[in-house]
This record gives sequence, C-alpha cells and structure tokens, in this order.
Amino acid sequence: MKTRLICMYSMAAVALFSLFAFRSANESELTLLMRDIFDEAMAAKQAIAAGEEPKFEIDLDAILTAKATVDAKTSNPNYRPRAEAYLEAMEAFKTSEVAQRKKAFNAVVDACMACHRSVCPGPMMRIQKLYFKNTD
Ligand code: HEC
Repeated sequence: MKTRLICMYSMAAVALFSLFAFRSANESELTLLMRDIFDEAMAAKQAIAAGEEPKFEIDLDAILTAKATVDAKTSNPNYRPRAEAYLEAMEAFKTSEVAQRKKAFNAVVDACMACHRSVCPGPMMRIQKLYFKNTD
C-alpha cells in the first residue's frame, strides 16, 4: 500500500515536471522578446492616439540573437534581412515628425508582418490589430 502511494506521488511529480518542461520549451527567448515587443507597440499606438510620447525601453537588437522555439525560424534566410528591415523601420519611427508618426508606425507594423509572413504566420492576426486604420 505504502509503495503504491509513493509510486503515485512520483508519477504525479514526473507529470508536473514534464508539464513545466513543455511550457518553458514553448517560451523561448524570442517568444518572450516578441511578447514585450507586442506590448510596447500596443502601448506606443495608444500613446500616439492620445497625443502623447511613446516610450521605448526594449533592447531591440536582441531580435538578431534571441533563440526561437524552433531553430528553423531564425535560420530561415529571410529572417535576418527582415529583422534588419524592422530595426530600420523602428529607427525611422523613433525619429519621425509628430505629424508622420502614424504612417511611420504602420511601416513598423508592415515590417513585423513581412517577417511573420515568411517565417511564422501564426501571430499575424494579432499583429494586424496594431495598424492605424486612419493615418491622418
Ligand atoms: C525578423 C522576424 C520577426 C520580426 C521583424 C517580428 N517578429 Fe514576431 N516573431 C518572430 C518569430 C520567429 C516568432 C516565433 C518565436 C519562437 O517560436 O520562438 C515570433 C513571435 C511573435 C509573437 C508570438 C509570441 C507568443 O506569445 O507566442 C508575437 C505576438 C509577435 N511575434 C509579434 C511581433 C510584432 C508586434 C512585431 C513587430 C513590432 C514582430 N513580431 C516582429 C519573428 C519576427
């Protein structure tokens, strides 16, 4: 009886451990970075809409080195050029005139979409929500 109980406990422990291992395998460096990037972009959109200054705190260059859940995503030959195009679009956005901000922001979202279209289409519906429909 006692051994069976111990056995059940250890099976539960193994199950819990695998669940944890599976979760962390899904939360790669790049996934965590992307979540921050998405949140900061959404906050920037809201700030611009409210006529306020957007804040930039993320080290975006990490996009060039962060490990993905699947190596094939970042080793895809489209990845690096799309990442560099995104960094350039961000630079243009950060230095844009207030009157051009919405257009510059949509160009950043275009850069997100371009990479996602070629290496990771899953989040595209979510990213699309970032677009300003009216850029005036
Ligand atoms: C150079 C390519 C590239 C660019 C540019 C890029 N992404 Fe990603 N993104 C990825 C890849 C690859 C993944 C999958 C990460 C993984 O599997 O580890 C991802 C994952 C995501 C996810 C899913 C995170 C999760 O919770 O699973 C979101 C949301 C996301 N990106 C939003 C954005 C937004 C918003 C932008 C632009 C501001 C952007 N991405 C720009 C390549 C890119």
